[in-house]
This record gives sequence, C-alpha cells and structure tokens, in this order.
Amino acid sequence: MTRGARAPANNRQKVMAELGYSQGWGVVAGATRISSVGQAGLRYRGYDIAKLAETVCFEEVLHLLVYGELPTRRQLAFLRDTLMEFRRLPRPVVDVLRSIPTDTDLMDVLRTTVSLLGHYDPTHGDTPDDLRRRSIWLTASIASLIAARHRFVNRLEPLDPQPGLAHAEELLFQLHGETPDEEAARLIDLTLILYAEHDFNASTFTARVIASTRSDLVSAIVGAIGALKGPLHGGANERAMEMLAQFHTPDDAAAFITRALERKDKVMGFGHRVYRNGDHRAEILEAALRRHAETAGAAKWMAIYDAIKTPMVTEKGIHPNLDFPCALTYHLLNLPVDLYTPLFVASRVAGWCAHVIEQVEEDKLYRPLSAYVGEPPRPVPPMSAR
Ligand code: SDX
Repeated sequence: MTRGARAPANNRQKVMAELGYSQGWGVVAGATRISSVGQAGLRYRGYDIAKLAETVCFEEVLHLLVYGELPTRRQLAFLRDTLMEFRRLPRPVVDVLRSIPTDTDLMDVLRTTVSLLGHYDPTHGDTPDDLRRRSIWLTASIASLIAARHRFVNRLEPLDPQPGLAHAEELLFQLHGETPDEEAARLIDLTLILYAEHDFNASTFTARVIASTRSDLVSAIVGAIGALKGPLHGGANERAMEMLAQFHTPDDAAAFITRALERKDKVMGFGHRVYRNGDHRAEILEAALRRHAETAGAAKWMAIYDAIKTPMVTEKGIHPNLDFPCALTYHLLNLPVDLYTPLFVASRVAGWCAHVIEQVEEDKLYRPLSAYVGEPPRPVPPMSAR
C-alpha cells in the first residue's frame, strides 16, 4: 500500500517560511514574569543570574521563582522547615522505587514515581498558594526520590532525612550517607541555582501547555520530566560526560572533535536555540569548575575539556551550554552519570512549578496552529481501487 508520500523536509520548511512561520523557535509563544533569557543575560524575576549565583542558595531561588520574591530570613527558615517536613517518602512509593528493575533509566523511574507520588500528595486545594505549597512538597520529594533510588540501585537502604542541612547538603547526604564537604555542597548548590529556570524551554513549555488545559500540577511535572529526558534537551549532560569519559588524553579528545566536526555530528553540551554567543550559566559554572579542578588536581580533565571546547568555539562558533561544564563538575564530584539529568529535574522543578502557577493564573488554553503541507484535496478511492 503506498501511502501519500510526506512532503520532503526542505519543502516543509520552505512552505512554512513562505507562510512566515519558523519551525517552533524564534516564535514568541507567550509572556512571563518569571525569567528573561537572551544574549544580554539571564535574569530570574529581574535579578541577574551571576549576582544570584554569587550571593544566594538554591532555597532562596526556589522561593524567588515560586513566590516571586527573595525570602526574608524568617521566610527562608520556614521554607527549609517545610522542605524538611516533606522529605520523607510514602512507604508504597519507596516499595515501588525498590521494585523497578535496576537497569531502568533513572529519568523513567522519576517519571513513574512522581506520578505515583501524586496519589499521596499531603497538600490540599488548588489556589495559587496551595500550588506553591505543593511546589515545595514536589521539590523536597523529588530530591528524596533520586537519592533513594540511587541507593537501591547500589544495594543500599535509603537514609532518613537529616535536620539542619541545606537542600544541596541534604541531597548529597541522602546519596552518600555522610555530611558533604563544603566545596561539594557549594558546587551542587550552584548547579541547582543555574538549572532552576530558563523561560519557555521545551520541558517548561510542556508543563505550561498541560497546565493551560486546567490539568493538575503533578501531571504537568510528569510531562515536563518526559520532555527533559531527551538528549537535545536535559539529557545532554549525561551524553556530554559519556563523550568525555572515552578520552585518556587531550590528544584523544582533539582527534575526536576533528572527526566529529568533519562528520557534522552533534556534539552534546554545545549549542543553544537562544544563546548564540555563549550560555551565561555555562560561563559561571565553568569558572567554578576550573577553580575546583585546580584544588582537586584534575588539570588533565580540564585539558580534555578544553580540547573539545576550543575547536567548537573557534572553528564552529558554537559555545558550550550549561550541560558541558555541569557534566565534568558532577564527574569530579564522583556522581554517577545516570544522576545528571535527574539532578537537572531536582532543580528545574522550581521553574516548572513557577510557570504552572503563572499559567493557572493566566487561565488561557494553548492551541497553536500548524501549516498544512500534506496532500492536496482528493476523493476517497473504493477498496478495489486501492
Ligand atoms: C538545554 O531551551 C533551553 O533553554 C534549553 C536549556 C534549558 O536550560 O532548559 O538550556 C537546556 O536543552 C540545552 C541544550 C542541550 N542540548 C545539547 O547540548 C544537544 C546538542 N545541541 C544541539 O542539538 C543544538 O545546539 C540545539 C538543539 C541545542 C540547538 O540547535 P540550534 O543551534 O538551534 O539549531 P540547529 O540544530 O539547526 O543547528 C544549526 C547549525 C547546524 O549546522 P549546519 O547544518 O547549519 O551546518 O549548528 C550546528 C548544526 O549542525 N550545531 C551543532 C551543534 N549545535 C548546532 N553542530 C555540532 N554540535 C552541536 N552541539
């Protein structure tokens, strides 16, 4: 049976260009008060990301995104108490975390268990303030889900939450079972701040579309997790480390990137749909990574990092996005690769929730149009003529 041949890709894009549409990027799909992303910089609710990275912790960014303002000392203490209140996972969820086959992708485990967690939501109501409290519950729970699953996969039992730890410290404690050193906690906290929000990226937009139908917050977050998993989006930090891990010397990396550029391969951790002259977040994290690599005696890793980065920038004009420095940062902190994108989730859940709340308040259904490029009108043939 010969189905109608699809219009060839270049024709599709040509037709769309003629109609004045671009294929899903460069199109303004809505307004937001949460962040601004552009060549000039990245701001969360008006605050420059570099200043935030220097002065606040992830919990303060969580409060800023979800409540709209940086917290006072009292509000920060209350937020930390609330995170602590919500860290313990319901027993049925822990049982499922234990039972899912150990070779299951952790992003798939998160997609499943966040959905299951929704049946044990301890918060109530659907006002924006109720959704804010649910956002804090999801942020606390997702960190615990990741840590508990990591321990099960390593034949260890999950650990009870430790009072008095900051969110990044708690995450590392629940992963490793020991209070983390200051440097590790600070680097994790920095990645949580930098990954937290990025306006209408694919996973956030997914969450907004789901919220725009008046569906619920948990459904929106589960959808966003599915979107973030893709290697063109959140999954790139894992692919970038898999790429780096194959090199023993900077020369190996230089030979690899020469071949990759000749083949026009997509190099994971590079490029960005909005940033054309470099990702502001990547520059911030790369500076911290270089400092850490120096004290950690990881000069060879930085030489391999630069053997990939330099030709990408100088020959292709394509800069690292946040995933490239983040991959090596997590590696130097001895985190296993399968945790990298889930840690992106642990951070971006703050931005996703802020956008869901904003969308709920806007209460407008998303229904974009498409440019039809298929078969022209034609009569239905009888079976005998097919
Ligand atoms: C994230 O939107 C967000 O804000 C996302 C994010 C967030 O915080 O939410 O920032 C997180 O998703 C970051 C991106 C992570 N993905 C990757 O690192 C995967 C590798 N990157 C590419 O797939 C790509 O850069 C994209 C998809 C991220 C962006 O693509 P572009 O630049 O908009 O457009 P394109 O894919 O059409 O590429 C244009 C040209 C092509 O070359 P030509 O065919 O014109 O010769 O640039 C080349 C591409 O081949 N190119 C790359 C490249 N990225 C673009 N070449 C090699 N390696 C790359 N990474």
